[in-house]
Amino acid sequence: MKIFILFIITFACGFFGSIVSNGNPLPYEAIFNFGDSTSDTGNAATDYPTMNKNGAYGSTYFKHPSGRMSDGRIIIDFIAEAYGLPFLPAYKNITKSQADIKKGVNFAYAGATALEFDYFIRNGLPPPATTNSLKVQLDWFKMLKPSLCKNKEECDNYFKQSLFLVGEIGGNDIFSHMTKKTVTELQEIVPLLVESITNTATALIEEGAVELVIPGNFPLGCNAGVLNFVNSKKKEDYDEFGFLIAYNTFAEYYNEQLKNSIETLRQKHPQAKIIYFDYYGATKRLYQAPQQYGFTSDKVEILKACCGGDGPYHVNALMFCGNPGTTICSDPSKLIDWDGAHLTEAAYKLIAKGLVEGPFTNPSLKPAPFKIA
Ligand SMILES: *[C@@H]1O[C@H](CO)[C@@H](O)[C@H](O)[C@H]1NC(C)=O
Repeated sequence: MKIFILFIITFACGFFGSIVSNGNPLPYEAIFNFGDSTSDTGNAATDYPTMNKNGAYGSTYFKHPSGRMSDGRIIIDFIAEAYGLPFLPAYKNITKSQADIKKGVNFAYAGATALEFDYFIRNGLPPPATTNSLKVQLDWFKMLKPSLCKNKEECDNYFKQSLFLVGEIGGNDIFSHMTKKTVTELQEIVPLLVESITNTATALIEEGAVELVIPGNFPLGCNAGVLNFVNSKKKEDYDEFGFLIAYNTFAEYYNEQLKNSIETLRQKHPQAKIIYFDYYGATKRLYQAPQQYGFTSDKVEILKACCGGDGPYHVNALMFCGNPGTTICSDPSKLIDWDGAHLTEAAYKLIAKGLVEGPFTNPSLKPAPFKIA
C-alpha cells in the first residue's frame, strides 16, 4: 500500500510537473552563439568600454551604443526575439545577472578569427584585432558549463533543447589574408577555416549540443569595405550591379566547401541536426533588388556605407565610422551597408527573417512563435 501511494505521488508529481514546465514551452530553452562582430552583443565592448562610444552605433534601436557593430539590432537579436528569448547576454558581461544565462549566452567577439592568433603571426599576416578566436570562445563555453547545468543528464537534457550557432566566422581571417594574397590565392586558406568551424561544431556535439547552425559567408563582392579596398579600375571586374565578380565567386567557393564539410559532419553525427544558414543568398538578393525590400533604388548609393569617411563607397579605411570627419547617412534604413564592414539593422532584420521564416536555411529551424516584423 505504501509503495502504491508512493508510486501515485511520484507519478502525479512527475505528470503535473511536466505540464507546468511544458505547458507553453518555447522551441528552444537557450541559444549559445559563437562568432565575430557580425554577432557580438557586447563582449568586445565590455573589454573596451570606449569602443563605439561616439553615438553612431546603436543610434536606431537602442538609442545608445549597445556593444553591437550596427546602428541597431543584429541577426542574433532578431533570432532571439522570434523565439521568445531575451537578447543574448555577452559572456564577458554576465557576472551580475547569472540568472539570465540559462536562456543563452553570447561568446562572439568583434574581430575574432576562425584561426588562432599565432597563425597570423607565424605567417607574417596582419594580426587579428583580438586573440579571442573561435577556440578561445569554445574554452569560455566549457568554463561556463558548470554554471549552466550540474551533471551529464541535466546538461544533455538542457542542451538538447538549446540552439548552438557557430559563426559567421572566418570573415576576419579572409580580410587579413586579402592584404597579402590575390583573390585566387585566398582559396588556399578555405580548408583551414572550414576545419576550424567544423571542429568547433564537433566539440559542441561532444558537449551535448544536438541542434547546431553553421552560417556561411556574406557576398564579399557587394561589401563596401571590400569594394573600397580592391578599388579596381577595370570594368570587367564588376558585374551589372557593380559587385566584384571574383570576390563573390570566392564567397561561393568558400560556402560550397563549408557545405561539403557540414554534410560529412552530418554523416558522422546522425543524431545531430546541423543547419546551414545561407547568409550569401539572404544578403545578395537585397543588393540586387534593393527597392523591393525598402532600400534606395539608386544603383550607386546602394553600394555605399551609411557611416564612414570620404571615398567612392563612403568608406575610408583610416576613418572608421564615428571618428572625427566621418558622416552618417540621413536614413540608415535606406542602405544595406552600415560602416563598410557590417550591415544596417534594416538589412540584418531582413536576413534574420529569411533565416527564421525561410527559405535561407537547410534544414529549417523549429517554427518560431513570433514573427520578425
Ligand atoms: C552589460 O550589461 C549591462 C546590464 O545588463 C548593460 O546595461 C550594459 O550595456 C552591458 N554592457 C555592454 C558593454 O554590453
